[in-house]
Amino acid sequence: MLYQGDAIRVEVQDGGIALLTLDLKDEAINKLSSSVIGELSLAVDALEAESGLKGLIVASAKDVFIVGADITEFHAMFAKDEAFLVDMNTRIHALFNRIEDLPFPTVTALNGLALGGGCELSLTTDFRVMAETAQIGLPETKLGIVPGWGGCVRLPRLIGADNAIEWIAGGSQNDAETAFKVGAVDDVVPQEKLMAAARDILDKANAGDFDYRARRTEKGSPLKLNAVEQMMAFETAKGYVAGKAGPHYPAPIEAIRVIQKGAGEGRERAQAIEAQAFAKLAKTDVCYNLVGLFMNDQAVKKKAKQYEKSAGTVAQAAVLGAGIMGGGIAYQSAYKGTPILMKDIKPEAIELGLKEARKLLTKQLERGKLSQTKLAEVLSNIRPTLSYGDFDHVDLVVEAVVENPKIKSAVLAEVEANVSEETILASNTSTISIDRLAADLKRPENFCGMHFFNPVHRMPLVEVIRGARTSDAAVAATVAYARQMGKTPIVVNDCPGFLVNRVLFPYFGGFSGLVEHGVDFERADKIMERFGWPMGPAYLLDVVGIDTAVHASEVMAEGFPDRMAHEGKSAIQIMLDNQRLGQKNGKGFYAYEEDKKGKPKKVHDDEAHRLVAEVVRETRELSDDEVIARMMVPLCMETVRCLEDGIVGSPAEADMALIYGIGFPPFRGGALRYIDAMGVAEFVAVAERLADELGALYAPTVRLREMAASGERFYPDASDR
Ligand SMILES: NC(=O)c1ccc[n+]([C@@H]2O[C@H](COP(=O)([O-])OP(=O)(O)OC[C@H]3O[C@@H](n4cnc5c(N)ncnc54)[C@H](O)[C@@H]3O)[C@@H](O)[C@H]2O)c1
Repeated sequence: MLYQGDAIRVEVQDGGIALLTLDLKDEAINKLSSSVIGELSLAVDALEAESGLKGLIVASAKDVFIVGADITEFHAMFAKDEAFLVDMNTRIHALFNRIEDLPFPTVTALNGLALGGGCELSLTTDFRVMAETAQIGLPETKLGIVPGWGGCVRLPRLIGADNAIEWIAGGSQNDAETAFKVGAVDDVVPQEKLMAAARDILDKANAGDFDYRARRTEKGSPLKLNAVEQMMAFETAKGYVAGKAGPHYPAPIEAIRVIQKGAGEGRERAQAIEAQAFAKLAKTDVCYNLVGLFMNDQAVKKKAKQYEKSAGTVAQAAVLGAGIMGGGIAYQSAYKGTPILMKDIKPEAIELGLKEARKLLTKQLERGKLSQTKLAEVLSNIRPTLSYGDFDHVDLVVEAVVENPKIKSAVLAEVEANVSEETILASNTSTISIDRLAADLKRPENFCGMHFFNPVHRMPLVEVIRGARTSDAAVAATVAYARQMGKTPIVVNDCPGFLVNRVLFPYFGGFSGLVEHGVDFERADKIMERFGWPMGPAYLLDVVGIDTAVHASEVMAEGFPDRMAHEGKSAIQIMLDNQRLGQKNGKGFYAYEEDKKGKPKKVHDDEAHRLVAEVVRETRELSDDEVIARMMVPLCMETVRCLEDGIVGSPAEADMALIYGIGFPPFRGGALRYIDAMGVAEFVAVAERLADELGALYAPTVRLREMAASGERFYPDASDR
């Protein structure tokens, strides 16, 4: 044994081949935390000191190779100043360069996931062999940084600037076939042959069949591109990537700049450019928030996994109602491999539900993402029915019939009589209290809410709503089923609007108030889209459906009359009065035309503006910032209330629910992170000012005022920034 640490060991095999194995103690995965990097340095010392070595294999003893750097260290690390960060990465560059310069051929055996720093470590060796099932990529730009351990330097020299830009700016995870095609790896073999293949490459390099020194020269030299090629590769990519990433995500473009600036340089100078850019980006709010988002996502998934532990698998599901939501739920369940019965009362509804599933599958088939066999398999997982015939074998039923409490209660009672005593019932209601629906059930403990978002196949969130009588087992089973469907479940307690709609409707309330103060709704949309929302409030209302929105806002007003009741007619109500239901009937705040692909495209409509003019009470000149505050403060305040009332368990879950459920701008990290970023005291001051003028919708809670006074935050980790 040449070296043995808690994460790394180095031993010498027959023929003088050193094997460096990553096997982080007490963890299921390998990650390059600061302590692992420390061990790597000692391991390299040992390799350099040993004479007579003929080669090095870098490998992993886990299912993954290395998932990357330890992201949980980022916030504290990035709180240090830029010079510290440059120095930190320069040291890692020096360490990685020492691996690259070892006096014998080197190879990495990529057995599983090799991301970020893991991928970068593998780029230091002369060769890479990859298992067929492994994946490789540099996802750093998704965290608001650029690869900082040589990825921006070595990858373009290895696979060409254009491919490297695609990998780095897109942050994609690439399979073995793709990696081999572009030349990122030298061989792809079945998992069990990986070590033999690695050994074989070293033998060939030592025999002179492979020129490993030429590899090193290539990786350490300027990029081979003439001026025209450079221009094509970099400028075209910048235009494309800027369009895709949008103005709020600077990292992908910065990555291209780093590759471009380093293109004419040798290894060390190009690495210095990378280190500078990394440090600069690591200090941005966007990076801070995206790293926070990653950690929140992990926290939410961990919670779901805990629930899952106590639940069995849902082997057979059923959905009641084959409408927009029922059809979507059936498709998603079937697609992810859980067979589902789809029951409706009308044959034509079932036909529509199946047609929708077929349409989604055909699209995937056309894009080459799905085979004909898989398509047939998915469709055979959906069993349409008009009766409760086979319901006695169902583990979980999702109720997705029309949003009418009487009908829902009747349907739930009916299904309860047709299923086993263990079957879990979950309602996809958006507005009806889970406790109210539970009241007429014989086994209310087996009942909870399972709130999907439209379109089901695309929206990642599922709110799992625990009623007062819901059992832990019912929550666990519903969480497990949501995860089987590939969704992110977040468990919340019952209240009007649950979490997401309870928070969204005060935002619409803020919007209505703005319209009444003469703010043009198209302007409000543009401001909020620039702020980072995928669509502005008027457009979102059209997409949700004006009738649905009016109904939900009535429920919210009844639930929270002090702040959500609306005096007089709102602009949304005026739309409904005039049968402008939004996208679904082609007119709402906008008119809708079909674009070339047959998708609805919004256009300005004079008539909508004329109608809205009726609700304008007084015209005020409001700045863009004021417009933002008047919508964001109610949304954020209601999120705070949901946390204080115990509707949601933690800031992480609240923020992730908003990002996954309504498209809250991810780079802002969520409503509570947004308050933290602004400063709780500053937020409270703005809220108080608006509350004085506009009323209870804006009023901060007592607890939030206390937080402001004591300097508390929702995310204490931010306090060292
Ligand atoms: N559409 C959305 O954006 C959305 C989002 C989240 C939740 N929801 C909720 O999902 C539920 C369904 O909404 P939708 O938009 O799919 O409605 P929809 O009108 O498209 O579909 C409802 C379906 O239920 C069927 N149905 C009625 N009574 C039935 C019964 N007794 N047994 C079986 N089927 C019956 C109808 O025939 C119809 O096919 C509602 O509770 C709604 O609030 C909707």
